[in-house]
Amino acid sequence: MHIDTATTDPVRVYQLLTGIVTPRPIAWVSTVSAAGVVNLAPFSFFNAFSANPPVVIFSPTLRRDRSKKDTLLNLEQVPEFVVNAATADQATAVNATSAELPPGDSEVSHAGLETTPSLHVRPPRVAGAPAALECRVRQIVPLGDGPIAGNLVIGDVLAIHVADTVLDAAGRVDPRKLRTVARLGADFWCHTSDLFEQKRP
Ligand SMILES: Cc1cc2nc3c(=O)[nH]c(=O)nc-3n(C[C@H](O)[C@H](O)[C@H](O)COP(=O)(O)O)c2cc1C
Repeated sequence: MHIDTATTDPVRVYQLLTGIVTPRPIAWVSTVSAAGVVNLAPFSFFNAFSANPPVVIFSPTLRRDRSKKDTLLNLEQVPEFVVNAATADQATAVNATSAELPPGDSEVSHAGLETTPSLHVRPPRVAGAPAALECRVRQIVPLGDGPIAGNLVIGDVLAIHVADTVLDAAGRVDPRKLRTVARLGADFWCHTSDLFEQKRP
């Protein structure tokens, strides 16, 4: 099958893209509105793109009715965010925070979570997350104005929190301890427990 994206329904393109580009890491993003309401939501259009300076990018898309998600609205008011690690232990809570709540309601209490203050940014981090990145927005790049159009949020990582319990003896993150989860197409997720090693040539 061949798909010409210019003449295909965006929802169909979305289904194919998210089924093929897999697995995708999940940024569990906390933001705060100008009024101080904390928002928390998962985003799998996410990755790290530079280590010096440290930069991450994620994309809150427009909703199918073309409205902006609360995360994007918050970043336009307070341009700071925290990427909390999405781990197997908290996969149910991560999913719960993808609920579409009214802007004044916080997913944090909805999912029964607790937060702890960040050091450099106004949004707090998830208290139970074993790793978190405090970020400041460098740029927001809108990619379109139609349904599911992406908005690249490019963020400079100001601080990294990582629990000693997920480090190995050399101080590196041990994936067997961090146990992140990832997103595939439809409602499929995966664990990161089926590991193998290859030495770089
Ligand atoms: C694992 C997972 C990954 C998701 N990834 C994205 C994503 O990359 N971009 C996006 O716009 N929505 C994504 N969603 C949906 C948002 O989390 C959902 O629309 C959420 O309600 C947005 O919250 P907000 O309106 O509070 O910003 C994802 C949902 C789940 C469960």
